[in-house]
Amino acid sequence: MTAGGTAIEALVTTFKAAWRAGLASNPEAAPHLRATLARLEAASGSVAPAPVRQPVTRFVAPASKLSSHPESAALAAATRAAEGALAWHPAYPQLAGDPRYADFLAGYSYADVAGPRGPFVTPDMAAFLTVQAPGVTYPAHAHPAFEVYYIIAGRAEWKRGGEDWRFREPGTFIVHLSGQAHAMRTGAEPLLAAAVWLDHLDGPSVMVEP
Ligand SMILES: [Fe+2]
Repeated sequence: MTAGGTAIEALVTTFKAAWRAGLASNPEAAPHLRATLARLEAASGSVAPAPVRQPVTRFVAPASKLSSHPESAALAAATRAAEGALAWHPAYPQLAGDPRYADFLAGYSYADVAGPRGPFVTPDMAAFLTVQAPGVTYPAHAHPAFEVYYIIAGRAEWKRGGEDWRFREPGTFIVHLSGQAHAMRTGAEPLLAAAVWLDHLDGPSVMVEP
């Protein structure tokens, strides 16, 4: 196996440990976490992606130090180790050039960890990592998929539907219901997070205009 493949295997191992820990700590998310673990166990193998970096991925390494929670700190370290082996994508390419979203698009990127196209091949789920630079707002958006987010490292504010903004700590799971608007904003710290969809894998995720 290549060094990159080994790093991605280690990433999935620490990912599963975090999800197993969440079964006890987050009853709302537990059924989704259990299904995620089952689908990862049934994965049919892995394919090494062609690595791609983005300017914002320079924040992966500093962000990875911003957790003292055991499972998330391990996942953060594995994310840092795998960063150069993953394909990091710009989000919402259809919004490129729109000045309303320029700061967000420059300050955010995601990389697939598991899904129909790999790197960990799972036909019926999508798991991805996200990195968000300091001082960036991911505007309110929504998608058909029921989503579970996990804060890997960094402290950020989260907003779901009509709820107020609230700080979320590393090691926390956050559920977004199908179609529920959600937004995240960073302050002084960059953010590393993971998210999983088990349905409506093709989205779309769309911005929710205020
Ligand atoms: Fe989402």
